[in-house]
Amino acid sequence: MTTYRSLEWRDNSLVLLDQRVLPHNVRYLTLTRVEEVAEAIRNMTVRGAPAIGSAAAYGMALAALQNRVLSTQKLRHFLEQAADLLKASRPTAVNLAWAVDRILDRIKINPTADTEEIFQIVLREAHRIAEEDVRTNRQIGLNALPLLPHKVTFIHHCNTGALATVDYGTALGIIRTAHEHGHEVFVYVDETRPRLQGARLTAWELQQLGIPFQIIVDGASGFIMRTRKVDAVVVGCDRVARNGDTANKIGTYNLAIAAHAHGIPFYVAAPTSTIDLSLPNGEAIPIEERTEDEITTIEGFRIAPENASAYNPAFDVTPASYITAIITEAGVAYPPYDESLPSLVELAQQW
Ligand code: MRU
Repeated sequence: MTTYRSLEWRDNSLVLLDQRVLPHNVRYLTLTRVEEVAEAIRNMTVRGAPAIGSAAAYGMALAALQNRVLSTQKLRHFLEQAADLLKASRPTAVNLAWAVDRILDRIKINPTADTEEIFQIVLREAHRIAEEDVRTNRQIGLNALPLLPHKVTFIHHCNTGALATVDYGTALGIIRTAHEHGHEVFVYVDETRPRLQGARLTAWELQQLGIPFQIIVDGASGFIMRTRKVDAVVVGCDRVARNGDTANKIGTYNLAIAAHAHGIPFYVAAPTSTIDLSLPNGEAIPIEERTEDEITTIEGFRIAPENASAYNPAFDVTPASYITAIITEAGVAYPPYDESLPSLVELAQQW
């Protein structure tokens, strides 16, 4: 496993690795209130779909801890409000609602629990979500192995590694598994404007794992596909609709179109917790829009003219037709996804 953790429950508090200051500073923040967790998700101290799901689950544990002195009825009501607060902190990744609803369900099936028991129930479920995430990611990596040649060059977008999860990573987990199984791995790392998750975080993780890579600007991927040998594009996801349309970091759609044009396989690494079968297709996926200054400034320094406006959607939706396969912990889904995804989700429930 990795030597750093994106998040950890310690002494009745949630400890987060502050991803805003990596790679130059390794700083941990200790949170004790659910409101702080919601803010840390919003401001991207913690980020990546599985990591924010797990952080939100621990946020529910903090909410229960904060209010143990209330009556059980009041505590239950407070937890409903805490759930809404956490779910609203970022809209695109379904993992947030998935994790928080899982906690609420646990509380509901224990109607006679007192406040101390409620806290223990919530904490136990949050730990379970975190542990499952690591197992899931390792299995996604193993499930992808048969799809990869021995000498394999990837293009990877955003950050999907240990930082974006509880540990190990999803798409970066695939790269990591290939490396651990003796494949000759090379990675082109999209820098991933505007928050630079690729240049700052993925490069940092790959360096520590000893996996060779080069950072490229997002606009270079088509050129690289045409002029170098690229075997696969691997990306993570924030929400996959029933038909396979996939929301992921802005720029993923462009990458998928370029991969399609060059006949390069385009793989999505998807824990089943990120699959939202309630949405028929990607049109219904809410896309987060973040502030203009993420584009007009870099580290506080303004690069655009004063008063220049910017439009900053944080995610895009890649149509299923551009996706070669969706790799989950329960197996690999191929088109038609509206048939393969529901059966893998069902299989994962017994997993
Ligand atoms: O805005 P971010 O950094 O939270 O976006 C993260 C991504 O888009 C990841 O690709 C996705 O969450 C999958 S992480 C395993």
